[in-house]
Amino acid sequence: MDKIVIHGGRPLNGCVSASGAKNAALPLMFATLLAPGPHRLGNVPRLRDIRTAEQLLTGLGASVQNEKGILEVFAEDLNGKEAPYDLVRTMRASVLVLGPLLARCGRARVSLPGGCAIGARPINLHLKGLEAMGAEITLDHGYVEARAERLHGARIYLDTPTVGGTENLMMAATLAEGTTVIENAACEPEIDDLAAALRTMGAKIEGDGTATITIEGVKQLHGMDYQVMPDRIEAGTYLIAAALTGGSVLVQNARADHMEALLSKLEETGAACQVTEEGVRVTGPAQLRPVDIKTQPYPGFPTDMQAQFMTLMTLCGGSSMITETVFENRFMHVCELQRMGADITIEGHTATIKGVSELLGAPVMATDLRASACLVLAGLAADNTTEISRIYHLDRGYESLEEKFRCLGADITRVPAEQ
Ligand code: UD1
Repeated sequence: MDKIVIHGGRPLNGCVSASGAKNAALPLMFATLLAPGPHRLGNVPRLRDIRTAEQLLTGLGASVQNEKGILEVFAEDLNGKEAPYDLVRTMRASVLVLGPLLARCGRARVSLPGGCAIGARPINLHLKGLEAMGAEITLDHGYVEARAERLHGARIYLDTPTVGGTENLMMAATLAEGTTVIENAACEPEIDDLAAALRTMGAKIEGDGTATITIEGVKQLHGMDYQVMPDRIEAGTYLIAAALTGGSVLVQNARADHMEALLSKLEETGAACQVTEEGVRVTGPAQLRPVDIKTQPYPGFPTDMQAQFMTLMTLCGGSSMITETVFENRFMHVCELQRMGADITIEGHTATIKGVSELLGAPVMATDLRASACLVLAGLAADNTTEISRIYHLDRGYESLEEKFRCLGADITRVPAEQ
């Protein structure tokens, strides 16, 4: 397996560009199943999850061409096949084919994703919402089988504002008969991006970006031509790297309006955040101050930035606290950070991080996507050499990570596995 080797301890300075957002691109790719197309998606990042989604679409009968970040999808003749376990287990977002397939074809068979490193992550709210829209749902040998001649509008209250659930139900409702109202809907910017793309396909959606989304079903949709929004989590990771190493980094295309919680917490640490026409610049302070964060659904502090922010806290001058409220098991990176000299204790959903004067390079292992990014950051701040294994997680979500960090002056290389 490939490794990443980092010789850390250098301030990072310069400019990188944010790639298209993985978490926006994936639902947009699955939305192409709602209409024959042709569909054209621009600014699609080159990532393993995108390739998995391409495989999934192809397996369902669509044809997909990916030319340098521009994706063309033709979804004329879907073949009624299932979304298989082998793909769904490597990428949970695969369950987002359920709503579009059911709405367009009247039937969908999708593997249940099972648990993952950061928690149980059920899809009960996706299924409950589809049932409210008239779907008949059965479980068969690990697969969800959903049927409905035509879905109908419904009033759906989500017990928790699930991002994927909101996306699945919003897509399903675009072709349902009548009006669907999703209450306590997720407000993440990726939901707005999906709604905007669906509108260009002819869907009638209002209220995205708020907790109440209203969708008036139409008989059919047409192809889309849409640019994926910039990745706020990737952008945030580079901005944290600037604060952490005492450097100054401009992330071009970064949308400050999507990152308010992060930027305000960075400012609390003493970092300077500057919003320019080009993007967002963060400059690290001489000494970081401790802060507390609590992860919450948008516009709260994103759980997908928690691990990276924890790395920053390990070097703050004092005691910081993180309360994770979105996922039950999202502190897997703590043991690895401890191996690098971090002083962290966990009690339930809360981690207390006492700042240390330096992190020490060590061999460490990535456990999930954002945890991997936190270890890269730790390696960049540590004085000597850090070797990160199991980096396939990183390739799921960070386009050209080593190249981008090298552009900022980092000494980071990928060492291919010995054959
Ligand atoms: C999406 C993001 C992921 C991010 C997460 C929270 C994508 C592809 N992934 O994941 O990076 O960390 O949002 O911001 O966009 N829940 C239920 N029942 C359900 C669905 C969810 O109880 O039917 C719970 C989950 O277990 C979790 C919480 O709701 O505790 C939030 O999960 P959700 O918003 O659904 O996350 P994802 O859409 O899977």
